[in-house]
Amino acid sequence: MVKICCIGAGYVGGPTMAVIALKCPSIEVAVVDISAPRIAAWNSDQLPIYEPGIDEIVKQCRGKNLFFSTAVEKHVSEADIIFVSVNTPTKTQGLGAGKAADLTYWESAARMIADVSKSNKIVVEKSTVPVKTAEAIEKILTHNSKGIKYQILSNPEFLAEGTAIEDLFSPDRVLIGGRETPDGQKATQALKEVYAHWVPEDRIIITNLWSAELSKLAANAFLAQRISSVNAMSALCEATGANISEVAHAVGKDTRIGPKFLNASVGFGGSCFQKDILNLVYICECNGLTEVANYWKQVIKVNDYQKNRFVNRVVSSMFNTVSGKKIAILGFAFKKDTGDTRETPAIDVCKGLLGDKAQLSIYDLQVTEDQIRRELSMKKFDWDHPIHLQLMSPAAVKEVSVVWDAYEATNGAHGICILTEWDEFKTLDYKKIFDNMQKPAFLFDGRNVVDVEKLREIGFIVYSIGKPLDAWLKDMPAMA
Ligand code: UDX
Ligand code: ADP
Repeated sequence: MVKICCIGAGYVGGPTMAVIALKCPSIEVAVVDISAPRIAAWNSDQLPIYEPGIDEIVKQCRGKNLFFSTAVEKHVSEADIIFVSVNTPTKTQGLGAGKAADLTYWESAARMIADVSKSNKIVVEKSTVPVKTAEAIEKILTHNSKGIKYQILSNPEFLAEGTAIEDLFSPDRVLIGGRETPDGQKATQALKEVYAHWVPEDRIIITNLWSAELSKLAANAFLAQRISSVNAMSALCEATGANISEVAHAVGKDTRIGPKFLNASVGFGGSCFQKDILNLVYICECNGLTEVANYWKQVIKVNDYQKNRFVNRVVSSMFNTVSGKKIAILGFAFKKDTGDTRETPAIDVCKGLLGDKAQLSIYDLQVTEDQIRRELSMKKFDWDHPIHLQLMSPAAVKEVSVVWDAYEATNGAHGICILTEWDEFKTLDYKKIFDNMQKPAFLFDGRNVVDVEKLREIGFIVYSIGKPLDAWLKDMPAMA
């Protein structure tokens, strides 16, 4: 029986291994992590991540051919194929601070593999890492090999949170990068056979190691670039009276462009886009490609601009101050159908409003109070380190309350900001909400989920990204 071990039981490792276990009953899959609470949660009824469809799969496979364990070394030493899916934070100090990936967790995983292995191993890069990481890991393993042979493969994950199971069931493609030697090709074939249990062969792409690593960074940079492009257009729409939904629809009808990923928003978030682009920028700079680095940097700058622009719209509409005013924040996760808050635009928007002394009442369907408070008091780039290494500034969040109901969050508020596109926010009783708010009642839709005309009829002053402006907002400055 083939044995797979995955180091790192996070958003990538957990769902990916659950689907491999489901689709390959003849393979034994162990997911290991140094975090005991995380593993305990995977072994309980309350899984550590919210992801539609995952509970059923874990229930079906756990204890049969899917195991979650803290016995990292035992499972690594027994495995034929080891996936490494550990965190790769952005460096906060030293060489490449603010851009380069910190490979501490990767390196310690590689050294542990070298320490405990007694048989040949295929080591698969699953977390996004800079190009040529595989080569560095290969060196660590071969210099500590004790006669054991290692093959390194890059198999980047393309799942998106909230649709992870769907994405894993029918991926657009599976990418496997390996060495072009006979042993490299054998390893590539072994991994291909795992995916071939359910993925059609023509969707499994084989490349060299570096192409696979770079393709992941490139794909995320292209996706993020689309969002920054449409968000840049949204600012121009507001200035000219065009409607971003109409523009995006018309643009997306061109089959060369396509309709997906053209939703204007308050900005993109998530654990990948910003981190991967910063990584790409750093690699370009290290290779002397300043213009290329600056080109990609701009995608992040527009994203930051979009978040600032939103905060400025809120403050300037509300008579240039939100000091002491209750503002309801509907949605804190970085997108719907996930409880993940890593790099969510809500962090910067909330911090911006708190900077103007607002009183925030936050409601999200999946995010806990603890997590919201942690995000609002954490330093930039600290989120990808274990909790005990995250430095908090305790003063930051006393102006924040977290509630479990949209009506409570909005009761008595001067304004509402919608920051995540949860379906629930489309069907709230906005008349009831309006009646219980201070007047004039403002609603700022950062995700284009509400029916602007209906809300205006109720009496709201509405701002919706990239849409023709309310008469009220027209005279207000868009940026300070
Ligand atoms: C992304 C990639 O899609 C995935 O392939 C990769 O493996 C990991 O990174 P993820 O971050 O989980 O996945 O979510 P994604 O759906 O890409 O959304 C990222 C951010 O962009 C979210 O904040 C989302 O709200 C925002 N977004 C997305 C928009 O603002 N507009 C859009 O049209 C699409
Ligand atoms: P991703 O979104 O890429 O899955 P996460 O941060 O959710 O990333 O998950 C990474 C996991 O890797 C964390 O649960 C962390 O505890 C685990 N981890 C990091 N280093 C090691 C290690 N050396 N051995 C085992 N697990 C590790």
